[in-house]
Amino acid sequence: MSQQTSGLAIETAGLVKTFGDTRAVDGVDLAVPAGTVYGVLGPNGAGKTTTVRMLATLLRPDGGQAHVFGHDVVREADEVRYRVSLTGQYASVDEDLTGFENLVLLGRLLGHHKKAARERAAQLLEAFGLTDAADKQVKNYSGGMRRRIDISASILNTPQLLFLDEPTTGLDPRSRNQVWDIVRAVVAQGTTVLLTTQYLDEADQLASRIAVIDKGKVIAEGTKGELKASVGAGSVHLRLRDPAQRPQAEEVLRLALDADVQLEPDPVALTARVGAGTVNGQGAAEKAARALAELARGGITVDNFSLGQPSLDEVFLALTGHDTGVHDDPKADGLKAHDDAKDGAAA
Ligand SMILES: Nc1ncnc2c1ncn2[C@@H]1O[C@H](COP(=O)(O)OP(=O)(O)OP(=O)(O)O)[C@@H](O)[C@H]1O
Ligand SMILES: [Mg+2]
Repeated sequence: MSQQTSGLAIETAGLVKTFGDTRAVDGVDLAVPAGTVYGVLGPNGAGKTTTVRMLATLLRPDGGQAHVFGHDVVREADEVRYRVSLTGQYASVDEDLTGFENLVLLGRLLGHHKKAARERAAQLLEAFGLTDAADKQVKNYSGGMRRRIDISASILNTPQLLFLDEPTTGLDPRSRNQVWDIVRAVVAQGTTVLLTTQYLDEADQLASRIAVIDKGKVIAEGTKGELKASVGAGSVHLRLRDPAQRPQAEEVLRLALDADVQLEPDPVALTARVGAGTVNGQGAAEKAARALAELARGGITVDNFSLGQPSLDEVFLALTGHDTGVHDDPKADGLKAHDDAKDGAAA
């Protein structure tokens, strides 16, 4: 009965799940405040789905504890199930039924009367921009439509806690934005959302707090700002007038900022991270100003300059020591950039 008092929707301590020799989840501690979107960010095989399945009572933990709104996921599984809903990584609606039929069927299974189930189905289809597709079989839906019908199915009854397991993987940018809007609307109605994602920008856009997981362990946790601050103060982005001056600019920046300088695909662009040890970007701004002065002294013309916070991509690199796999080897396990995801989810 300690629920509501702690203000936590989810609390886990030392959560473990093993499959044979694989420690899929290896001692995970989470504290998810109620009423927020909490992001669990990690590459393929990090243990995201396994964690979600334990929290949703679909898998029994091998060690540790997990409470959802104060209820133990093993001993009080019914109490938990009653409060949560899960939209899985793979769609769970019936392909041969239409969108409308799916929602009505699920509504009936949840105990709604026929009329109420039909009304709720129509309301959700409308809200999710699926009214025109209401009478199409789901197997003929696009990837984005599938994802939307799947999420709508999971919020037929407004859950206290919604698990969204990689809700936008494989979606095109437009569909992804629609899903993001849906997530924001769900949270605005008071539902807590635990969102797993491999997309840095998704966690950045939606979540208030983020846990970064890798190989079954939480390697960092905090607000976006905290995560970024723990890694470095910011990144300097520069565009030069003359691409021929780039090698010289690279050298000047490297010395002035005492940082690695990255050459962007655009031949006039450079990026450099301003090292940690600076606080709240204060020191970063000073260092960047000094670097600019040095460039001017060297006769290098800068067309464009900006100082931004590090991306979550850079955060992951700094935390794990390995890259997200996006730039070097597209097939490597790792965090993916959204741009890599072509539209059309797997059928
Ligand atoms: N039922 C299972 N049997 C055996 N091994 C499993 C099972 N489910 C997951 N695993 C293993 O556990 C590890 C974590 O898998 P999990 O599906 O939780 O990762 P994930 O973070 O969701 O990855 P993805 O981003 O690819 O969905 C992986 O090594 C995976 O192969
Ligand atoms: Mg998964």
